[in-house]
Amino acid sequence: MTIMKTWNVARIKASKGVCKLPCVTAYDYACAQLADAAGISLLLVGDSVGMTVLGYDSTLPVTMEDMLHHTAAVARGTIHALVVADMPFLSYQISIAEGLRNAGRFLQEAGADAVKVEGGAFRADLVRTFVQNGIPVLGHIGLTPQSVNVLGGYKVQGKTREAGEQLVADAQALADAGAFAIVLECVPPDIGATVTASVPVPVISVGAGPVCDGQMLVMHDMLGLTENTPKFAKPYATLAATIGDAFRAYAADVQNGTFPSPEHCYAPSEAATH
Ligand code: KIV
Repeated sequence: MTIMKTWNVARIKASKGVCKLPCVTAYDYACAQLADAAGISLLLVGDSVGMTVLGYDSTLPVTMEDMLHHTAAVARGTIHALVVADMPFLSYQISIAEGLRNAGRFLQEAGADAVKVEGGAFRADLVRTFVQNGIPVLGHIGLTPQSVNVLGGYKVQGKTREAGEQLVADAQALADAGAFAIVLECVPPDIGATVTASVPVPVISVGAGPVCDGQMLVMHDMLGLTENTPKFAKPYATLAATIGDAFRAYAADVQNGTFPSPEHCYAPSEAATH
């Protein structure tokens, strides 16, 4: 029997204008459990896993198998939050049929609740097909990292009147096609507000200002694990320093013989007690 999550797609949609959605990326079981228990509404298994966990310098090398592996781990650690799997580069761009097959694998094999795809109005047919076939879709417009080579870098989007109008048209096309919410990344806050007001579904900001219906941060940025955080990311912890201190203390204890101490050792064997 399928048990509906606290944060299912219907509840996420109904939150618009009622409450703001705290969202983060997640890539593993342990952090998913912590974020879920802390009341995060939506966990995105982002293809940012390529940079945060796998050490690539962009999201482009991330594969379907990478994403299925990390999505399944996050899904196992999540009870309440909606788990959204990010479709990796070239898993949905070749054809709608191939995209549908790959999107289905996230729900069928990895336990995701929904998928995310990058792109605006030109993705509307793909989004409609996914939704008609039972796969909820989170849209993603503004800075779309899979197009970094076309965009010429990780730059603020929507800075001209035309670009702002295009973002509104893109958001409306995605909402009309059935996207349950839309990620809007890296745009000025006035564009964030305009796009948010123009669609009936939640707009989730990644650096799109405070007026949006929810906020999303990359977990490694918000926990203080990354060196170069984007301007819009706020670190809520300094885990890189904490973890570094722990490794240094452990290394010193091993080297000077203070670890393990008796409390970390089993009782002596019979041979030792006779
Ligand atoms: O991969 C990712 O982490 C993302 C979010 C920043 C939206 O796409």
